[in-house]
Amino acid sequence: MIFGVIGAGQMGAGIAQVAAQSGFEVIVQDIETEFLARGENTTQKSLSRLHEKGKLAETPADILGRIKFTTELQDLAHCDLVVEAVVENEAVKSELFRTLGQIVKPSGILASNTSSIPITSLASASGRPKQFIGMHFMNPVPLMRLVEVIRGHRTSDETAHIVTETAERMGKTPLTCNDFPGFVSNRILMPMLNEAIGCLMEGVADREAIDGIMKLGMNHPMGPLTLADFIGLDTCLSIMEVLHRGLGDDKYRPSPLLRKMVQAGLLGRKSGEGFYKY
Ligand code: CAA
Ligand code: NAD
Repeated sequence: MIFGVIGAGQMGAGIAQVAAQSGFEVIVQDIETEFLARGENTTQKSLSRLHEKGKLAETPADILGRIKFTTELQDLAHCDLVVEAVVENEAVKSELFRTLGQIVKPSGILASNTSSIPITSLASASGRPKQFIGMHFMNPVPLMRLVEVIRGHRTSDETAHIVTETAERMGKTPLTCNDFPGFVSNRILMPMLNEAIGCLMEGVADREAIDGIMKLGMNHPMGPLTLADFIGLDTCLSIMEVLHRGLGDDKYRPSPLLRKMVQAGLLGRKSGEGFYKY
């Protein structure tokens, strides 16, 4: 199988890595060589960590050798499956899928790693709604077991079957849901993170206490403010906006503090500062 990935950010780099670890030939596309180099560096570091612990069947160099990096979308023409992992913005993703629908061979499946944007709407933009699906990996991709598989309104059984099998070949556990705002994962997770930001804004507790209460009290591996920084505050805000708009209920209103931090360019770990400094 030739496996395409669009976007070499934290998710795209992780998806490409795990696909290559599973023996697939991988082609990663991003808009600038600088972003591709950053993605390759992330993959290299992660593979080295896994190699040191004896968790890889091959050397990092062998695995990386199966990944090609390109700025040309045209290079994805022969892919059997393309997973898109660009910014969480519906206009950007729709435009991209309009183009991919023209470029990728007719039998190719198109998938989005979106956290919340309607799969059915992206499927329509692609012009091949039966061969379109949500393939939602979790961050950090090399370590997290889940792939949330989201069926759009017209996704075929065959597409769902191929994508589920591919996720299993990648060592993941696929679990399927239908196309509703935020699916299952972010319908439940993101309001909790938003509420933690609300607690900080209202002075209910300081950031260390909010994170500590959830880590020690609920056994969460990361506190909610640390996790929001890890995901990226721009992504968190986009997801809350999709939930708010899509479900039409003010209980999903993004916290004003979240909005302000994104306006200030404080995006979390990826920009060097969010609720914490990195
Ligand atoms: N690649 C390879 N190895 C990695 C790695 C990576 N990307 N990241 C961490 N590791 C390794 C570390 O080297 C470390 O190894 P040792 O134990 O051998 O030293 C091990 O994993 C644990 O890492 P840390 O000690 O740094 O930190 P940790 O114990 O807190 O574990 C974690 C890290 C697995 C990320 C854990 O904190 C965790 O599970 N956090 C929650 C993650 C989560 O909730 N993800 C979902 C986000 S929501 C989402 O993805 C959906 C969306 O649409 C927004
Ligand atoms: P990121 O900001 O780390 O990376 C996005 C990448 O996409 C960047 O390298 C950017 O240059 C590239 N890009 C932007 N527009 C592009 C285009 N038109 N063509 C090609 N590349 C383009 O973002 P991320 O955290 O990797 O998130 C990517 C997607 O994965 C989003 O839809 C997000 O909601 C989803 N997601 C994120 C997480 C998370 O925890 N961060 C978890 C699951 C899913």
